[in-house]
Amino acid sequence: MTSRLILGKDVSEEIYAELRQRIGALKAKGTVPGLAVVLVGDDPASQVYVRKKGEMCESLGMHSLTVTMPAETTQEQLMEKISELNADPSVHGFLVQLPLPKHLDEKQVINAILPSKDVDCFHPENVGRMLIGEPSFLPATPAGIQQMLIRSGVETKGKHVVVVGRSNIVGKPMAAMMVQKGLGADSTVTVVHSRTENLAGITRQADILIVAIGKPRFITADMVKEGAAVIDVGTNRVDDPSRPSGTRLVGDVDFDAVKDKASAITPVPGGVGPMTICMLMANAVRAAELSAEGKR
Ligand code: GUN
Repeated sequence: MTSRLILGKDVSEEIYAELRQRIGALKAKGTVPGLAVVLVGDDPASQVYVRKKGEMCESLGMHSLTVTMPAETTQEQLMEKISELNADPSVHGFLVQLPLPKHLDEKQVINAILPSKDVDCFHPENVGRMLIGEPSFLPATPAGIQQMLIRSGVETKGKHVVVVGRSNIVGKPMAAMMVQKGLGADSTVTVVHSRTENLAGITRQADILIVAIGKPRFITADMVKEGAAVIDVGTNRVDDPSRPSGTRLVGDVDFDAVKDKASAITPVPGGVGPMTICMLMANAVRAAELSAEGKR
């Protein structure tokens, strides 16, 4: 079987066009949607993500605020910054880029973010609302995957979705979303993880296989059913002496082998990656809409 590529760039461009319209409508009524991103310390990967988020805000005509704080920032200083952003009416949503330096308490930070501004959907109140199917926001990576499935015409209703990995950022919320009623959901969901017995026997039953386990090329062709749709969330840097950099990015799926078996598949890079910032922007626009409607 030759598989169809599902590309985050294409799907996100469609969503950005819709967001531009919604941003225009908000501005016409006097609201400029604002997103702030807090970066503590100088982790190079985080610096890249934070810069990309700011650039995307600006390209959409949103108000963008990047707050950089030194690695030695104390918990008190960070909590004070969160209070400031909670109270800032020009900031409809914000996030604190993770991971934080080791001496800082991530949980306390997340719990301090006003749920109505928590565009990451990491606050327990928002996680709970998502679980009961009354979400304000959806977590960016799972929401992006759901949009890829919907917009590339992969039927989810009644299908067996197997989620590989149980992180709080991807696996668990992904499973919670796919089991809800509605478009791009209504699935039968199984979650497998590092402690699962007969993992391959279960992944082989998947109509839709969503892989976020953080192990390079973990899913091999024998673990995939003929005709399955395969979504690869992994970004693993591996050695590649044939490249000038000496490394390359690979997913959690053995793409070259699995692509001949899948009906549709996301590559790495270029698959799920571009969707995450896109859905963050969608949450920020949603936060501004709710604020403009006086609902939050
Ligand atoms: N670090 C890696 N991904 C994310 C994310 O989605 N949100 C935040 N705040 N930090 C991250």
